[in-house]
Amino acid sequence: MTDDNMINLDMNENQYGPASSCLEVLKHATMDMMYLYSRQKPSSIIRMLSQKYDMPEQNILLGNGSEDLLKLIFQVFASHGKKMMLPYEGWSFFKDLCKEVDAKMIEYPVDELSDRWHYDMNKILPLYKKEKPHVFMACCPNNPTGNSFSPDEVETFLKESPETIVIWDQAYYGFTEYDLKEDVRRILEKYPNVIVTRTFSKYYALAGVRIGFGFAGEKFGVLKKYNDRYLGFNRLAEEVAKAALSAEDYYKTISAKQMRDRDMYFEELSRIKGVKPFRSEATYFIVRLKPEQWSLLKDELPKRNIRIKFIKDIEFPFFVRISLGREEQNKLCLDAIKDVLRIPPASDGKGLAGFHERP
Ligand SMILES: Cc1ncc(COP(=O)(O)O)c(C=O)c1O
Repeated sequence: MTDDNMINLDMNENQYGPASSCLEVLKHATMDMMYLYSRQKPSSIIRMLSQKYDMPEQNILLGNGSEDLLKLIFQVFASHGKKMMLPYEGWSFFKDLCKEVDAKMIEYPVDELSDRWHYDMNKILPLYKKEKPHVFMACCPNNPTGNSFSPDEVETFLKESPETIVIWDQAYYGFTEYDLKEDVRRILEKYPNVIVTRTFSKYYALAGVRIGFGFAGEKFGVLKKYNDRYLGFNRLAEEVAKAALSAEDYYKTISAKQMRDRDMYFEELSRIKGVKPFRSEATYFIVRLKPEQWSLLKDELPKRNIRIKFIKDIEFPFFVRISLGREEQNKLCLDAIKDVLRIPPASDGKGLAGFHERP
């Protein structure tokens, strides 16, 4: 329940919410969980993640969301003019972080193919070899374009880049086929220059609890030191996250629904003239609109209590990004988009007659 009646499909939250066992944890929270520091070293969530991913505890990082970890990583490794290579058609937050820590941004392209976006290693590797950046950011899936490097492409890149710190942002881990096959421990053992960041915000639907985690290769003792908390982490958040990790069946069911709705959106939006949706491996997708459609939706959707993201970055002119909601929310959003784009021409003749081709 939010403080308004809006359907919030603008910030890549998971609208199904967490497993009910997460709320039970809070209902049964005890006073000491609030007034005492944790005395568990390492914290119990680190132990649980260690077992789940077969990862030594000393390689696991924790943060207030993966945003917190990413900020720390940028501050430690990319500050003071160091070269950071990241996607041009990427998340503006990373570019802001680069500016914040005074990193030198080297941007690699994300290519638009017919129905999806794509990282082209044939372009990225030569640029990498030319620039030799200190840090390379691989956002998989990329926000907002929704594409990933395949595991083979990641390995190809890692073989070429032992001297570079590779940040592999997997905030949307759990929504692709690849994820299930990938063995993060093996990758870190083979490539100790990799830091993987993940989060409880997306797959586990705990964005408001702010808990993220990461896996850092052996090279990153210093990062682990900065990340360790003498007085412990957030005890309540840890307990909630542990309950989520124990509720995999629930999460599998809702992620399957999300994937179905992602396909449904794509099929439906593809039929509307002037509207170009792109396939995505994440829980959001982008859509290119005609300028008039973009403006119309921007005016009209909030009136229908629907929020989607109207991207304002120059890399994405007249794009929106829609986060997957619950099935009924997705249907309402889709119906509203269709309805708005059918608005009949205004009497001054500036309307949108003929904009929409009915299926
Ligand atoms: C690509 C990507 N990485 C990281 C994050 C950070 O998420 P959180 O701080 O909730 O873990 C987000 C949030 O939207 C994201 O889109």
